[in-house]
Amino acid sequence: MDTVTLLESLSNAFGVSGFEDDVRRVLHPLVAGLADEVRTDALGNLIAVRRGRTAPVLMLDAHMDEIGMIVNHVEDAGFLRFATIGGWDARILPAQAVTVRAQDGTLHRGVIGTLPPHLLSTEERAKPLPAESLFIDIGADSAAAVAARGVRVGDPATLAYPFERWPDGHVLGKALDDRVGCAVLVQVLAALRSRTPEMTVACAFAVSEEVGLRGARTAAYQLDPVIALAIEGTVAADVPGVAGARQVTRMGGGPAISVADRSIIVRPHLVRALERIAASRGIPYQLKTPLYGGTDAGAIHLNRAGVLAGGVSVPCRYIHTPLSLLRTRDVEDAVRLVTAFVEEAHTLLG
Ligand code: CO
Repeated sequence: MDTVTLLESLSNAFGVSGFEDDVRRVLHPLVAGLADEVRTDALGNLIAVRRGRTAPVLMLDAHMDEIGMIVNHVEDAGFLRFATIGGWDARILPAQAVTVRAQDGTLHRGVIGTLPPHLLSTEERAKPLPAESLFIDIGADSAAAVAARGVRVGDPATLAYPFERWPDGHVLGKALDDRVGCAVLVQVLAALRSRTPEMTVACAFAVSEEVGLRGARTAAYQLDPVIALAIEGTVAADVPGVAGARQVTRMGGGPAISVADRSIIVRPHLVRALERIAASRGIPYQLKTPLYGGTDAGAIHLNRAGVLAGGVSVPCRYIHTPLSLLRTRDVEDAVRLVTAFVEEAHTLLG
């Protein structure tokens, strides 16, 4: 499958932390034909193992989950109250279209309702509304009408708009953090179809990264890797008004190699190896500015006696909003870099 089509199906899939079933359902058939073993663990991580010539495990991680909301109360008049899951910016929630996923898997459209400016004081208009004061309107006029649609307390929701293909190789969509990492893993497995890797490659499509790197922790325990890479969609802040370190990465600048973030300080020889591999193959790359963000590598490197772990990220503008923008060239270059790393990672051992 071409990368943009893959990104489209992954971005459009619903996958709030803890409710990643739909994303896993997209990924499972794709990796089944590319791996020697595919399984889903107790937390919902999807694990795909491609056996290499040797037993030591190279773990590649990308998280399936996206930030979202969870219904915590249904008003008599049919409005849904919610709590947030993961790191939202409170300013962007009001007046957005949402998708609520009922227990039976059906998706229901809604909108986070707001009052028109006519009804607000100048002061009220100037400050963001706390999530507790917001509500989702699914066009149901009573609690009974909500129940009749199968929607109930505990159902997840997220801001959602359909994926868009833009000119010059840009795509816009929700949850590119980290569906782009999932796409990279699938394409790396596809690239390994024709050659047996030296190390055994275990891909972990992890759950619940956005609420504390949870799936990656237990995936690392069971896979027991010696080397690992977390593949992320990360902050590109190459926009007006942001300069220097705060840009973190630049869209179009190639995959970003992590040096240090809030969850890990990558061993310098791993950073150098990734840089050397990129340079020797003519793959553009950039260093991700320290010390912003955190990734699954933070959980993985602390597994058992410690794992040589690092990160490669695809720059995405406007992450943690429903409309993230990325350049597919950066995705293709990330696939090339990670595939090359798979071929050379064993040289870091011993
Ligand atoms: Co992420």
